[in-house]
Amino acid sequence: MKEIAQINPIENNAHPSKAELFDLEKMAEDGMITDSIYNTIKENPFCIEMIKEIAEFDEITFKHSFGVARYVELISKKIGLDKRTAEDLILAALLHDLGKSDEDISKVVKKNGPLDSREKEIMRRHPEIAFRRLEGRANDVVRKIVVAHHEDNYRTGSVKSQPENLELPLRIFFISDDFDALISERQYKEGLPIDEVEEILRKKFKRDDDQRFIDILVDDFKNKIQ
Ligand SMILES: [Fe+2]
Ligand SMILES: [Fe+2]
Repeated sequence: MKEIAQINPIENNAHPSKAELFDLEKMAEDGMITDSIYNTIKENPFCIEMIKEIAEFDEITFKHSFGVARYVELISKKIGLDKRTAEDLILAALLHDLGKSDEDISKVVKKNGPLDSREKEIMRRHPEIAFRRLEGRANDVVRKIVVAHHEDNYRTGSVKSQPENLELPLRIFFISDDFDALISERQYKEGLPIDEVEEILRKKFKRDDDQRFIDILVDDFKNKIQ
């Protein structure tokens, strides 16, 4: 297994391919995931079927989940976040978009082209669906990060169960989630250049802590391509 510093998302190492559809041991052997991600999955065996479900449902969401897991882990390590919260963040990253495999939502996810207002409304339900499915399985911190993982939901208070004392992990999550979404290639778009990604994130996330998290992800990316 590789240390996190050796794993390069640009070369797609952090993103397993669909052909391997979540063979955890092979991913670990091939150095596609870090020890922390591997251990978090091992310690939470319930998540294995859920990750498989995501992989079967949509390759992009599958890759994105592992990308976000890697970024939350990286920030957590750099800022010395306690191990427990760091693991909760990894688990939340792996499962945050589980709700997208819901029948109605998956149709919207797979649609090519812009969403109308009804489709956007359907899409907005995915965090709560995952939150409910994780009941009795994941702990409260993981579930609350999952339910609040879209910043708009969080800010507008549409999330029923408001996260308490989760400001810091949530900020780490929002930035990691957006970073992976912006930098990665999708069916419908190229990944954006790093400078553009940085600009978008700095405009959106303005607190002092946020700047540090953005620095960590941008520096890591630039170091990898040097
Ligand atoms: Fe999401
Ligand atoms: Fe996401």
